[in-house]
This record gives sequence, structure tokens and C-alpha cells, in this order.
Amino acid sequence: MKQDIYNQEIKDWDANAKFYVNENFMPYQEKIVRKKMYKFYNIDKSQAVLEAGGGIVKLLKNSVLIDFSTKMIEGCKSINQAEKCVQGSVHDLPFENNSFDVVVANGLFHHIKVQGLLDKTCDEFFRVLKPSGKLCIFDRAPNLVPKLMFYVRQPLKLIHKPKSTCSTTNEVQFLESDIEKIISHGFKIEKRMYLINIFFQSMIILTNIFQYLFGAKAAIIVQRISMPLAMVVEKIFSFKFLCVEQCIIMKKQ
Ligand SMILES: C[S@@+](CC[C@H](N)C(=O)[O-])C[C@H]1O[C@@H](n2cnc3c(N)ncnc32)[C@H](O)[C@@H]1O
Repeated sequence: MKQDIYNQEIKDWDANAKFYVNENFMPYQEKIVRKKMYKFYNIDKSQAVLEAGGGIVKLLKNSVLIDFSTKMIEGCKSINQAEKCVQGSVHDLPFENNSFDVVVANGLFHHIKVQGLLDKTCDEFFRVLKPSGKLCIFDRAPNLVPKLMFYVRQPLKLIHKPKSTCSTTNEVQFLESDIEKIISHGFKIEKRMYLINIFFQSMIILTNIFQYLFGAKAAIIVQRISMPLAMVVEKIFSFKFLCVEQCIIMKKQ
């Protein structure tokens, strides 16, 4: 583990938690992206689900969430039963072997990578999943657009501290080689989907700028007005080479 980076990541996520507290703050993500994502994951209500690095989300009936940030867990407890929200790191899971049908890791893997915890975390996910269990991943797509965005963000971080729902000081890219690494821990890709095309992403960036300049209320108004257009654009242009994110379903072998 890279201890200094790990500690900094906890600090950054504690600071970012305020962006997750109210789902109205991120209607694009909640009403378009998350809906599309979970439809793709196709999780049965009866299945036992672990939301790994789950942040602040409304949990399904049989879901449990783990996150290492105190603030995220506080927020999670405010909208779910407290016992379903566990504080801890995904590289050392406090759960029995073979206890989950599904592990969901949304926006988690590139953070695990920078913390030097990719191998341990994959072993833990393998251990707690039941035979043939699913590992559902949402992370950066393997094309030029997220790479470019990554390089644009770096100088911006020198000007101001990360102020967003996904950015941290030590952020790294998520590459095909990382997917190969996950596979090597006993998983096989079952399905893959690309999402958040560059037009939709531009609308998100535009509202972030509004939020930065005029505050949250202005950003929410802009998002609400542009929502129908965002939905149409996202539906039509979700090709691999146009998208900044991807969802992968992997099966435990
Ligand atoms: C990009 S956010 C995604 C949150 C949530 N999955 C979602 O889709 O809204 C990444 C989350 O992973 C958590 N996280 C990062 N590293 C972690 C670790 N080693 N153990 C547990 N949680 C971690 C962060 O605190 C943060 O809540």
C-alpha cells in the first residue's frame, strides 16, 4: 500500500462527500447515468450486493455498502439503515467468503490503483463473491477522450484544490492493462458498455462551470432545463470512441 497517498485519498473523499449528500445536486449522474448503469448490471432484488467504495447512494433491499471515508459513511447512514453502511477499506473486507452475488465498484478502481491496492482488492472481491458471482465495474473508457481530459485536469489542480464528485489529488488513469490485471485475479469479462459521450460530458462540464461561477442553485437550474437534451444525446451517441466511461460485468471463474 502507498500509505501517504492512501491517507491523502481519505482526506480528499471526506472533502468531496458534500457533493454526494444531496442527489439533486447531480441530476445528470443520478437520473441518466446511474439509471443506465444499473439497467445494464441487471441486478435482481433478491441478490446480495456489496457496493464497494459506494459513497452516498440509496441502497437496494439486500445491499451493503463499504467506504473508507468517514464523511461518505455519515452521508450514507443519513439515507439508509445505519448497519448497512460499513466504514472500512475494500482491500480488507470485513465479510465472510462467498457472501455476495454481486460486487459493484462504481468509480473505484482507478483510486484503488493509485493507492497501490489493486491486487489485494481484486483478491478480496474474489473471496467475498459466491461462485459465478458478478463484479460490476464503472470506470474510465479506454480511448483518447478521458486521457485528454486527465491531462487538462492536472494543471487546473495546481490552481485550485479538487472540487468535484470524482477528482482527487493523486488521480491516475484506468487502462486496458488494469482490466487485464483484474481478469488475472480469476475473473472473465461477460459484457461491456460505453457511456457518457463527449457531448453529454460537455454539458456536465458546462454546469460545473456554472456551479463554480454562480453557485449550486444556478447549476441545478441549468441541469434541469437541459436534461431532456442530455438524455437524447446520451442515447444516440454511445459509441466506444465517443465515450469517456465504461461499464464492465465480470464473472468470477
Ligand atoms: C468516485 S467515488 C464513487 C462513489 C460511488 N460508488 C458512486 O458511484 O457514486 C469513489 C468512492 O470510493 C471510495 N474509496 C476510494 N478508495 C477506497 C478504499 N480503499 N476503500 C473504500 N472506499 C474507497 C471513496 O471514498 C469514494 O466514496
